Amino acid sequence: MKIVLIGYMGSGKTTIGKLLSKKLNINFIDLDAYIESKLNTSVSDIFKERGELYFRKMEHTYVQELMEEKKSFILSTGGGTPCYADNLGLIQTHTKHDFYLKLTIPNLVKRLIIGKESRPLVQNIAETDLPEFIGKHLFERNNFYMQANTITVCDDKTPEEIVAEIMQQLK
Ligand code: S3P
Repeated sequence: MKIVLIGYMGSGKTTIGKLLSKKLNINFIDLDAYIESKLNTSVSDIFKERGELYFRKMEHTYVQELMEEKKSFILSTGGGTPCYADNLGLIQTHTKHDFYLKLTIPNLVKRLIIGKESRPLVQNIAETDLPEFIGKHLFERNNFYMQANTITVCDDKTPEEIVAEIMQQLK
């Protein structure tokens, strides 16, 4: 089974993916970590040294490799993955188990204030500007996210509750 988690930065894709992986005993793959291991460098350094366009090309290459070559996994994508290079279309030709982990802007802001330094797209945005930045960015990306086969509303839910909901959907 191929399960793919999509959603904005800070929506909990990695946390939920790891927990789901334990419950279902299916291998967990984090797309950013996969790209980093393939290119032997960090996502931050890819953005810094090669730019976003190069990152998007690599993201597409490796999401395609994973979808085509691996049989079973839980994949946590990057926040932008479904929004570029028809990656979501590609994902959906290989699985119907794609989940959008949806959160409100204020909840995303709360989460992204913590650890924003490690995220190239928000590290230079002042904390006070984050709500506006995320609001606009999410508006641009919403059309892609909303094309997921399942929309999982995550606000005010524990990771365990979210995982239980996803498992229910898989039945
Ligand atoms: C990005 C999100 C990041 C990472 C890269 C770009 C985005 O992943 O892929 O910095 O475009 O939203 P997370 O969603 O895991 O932070």
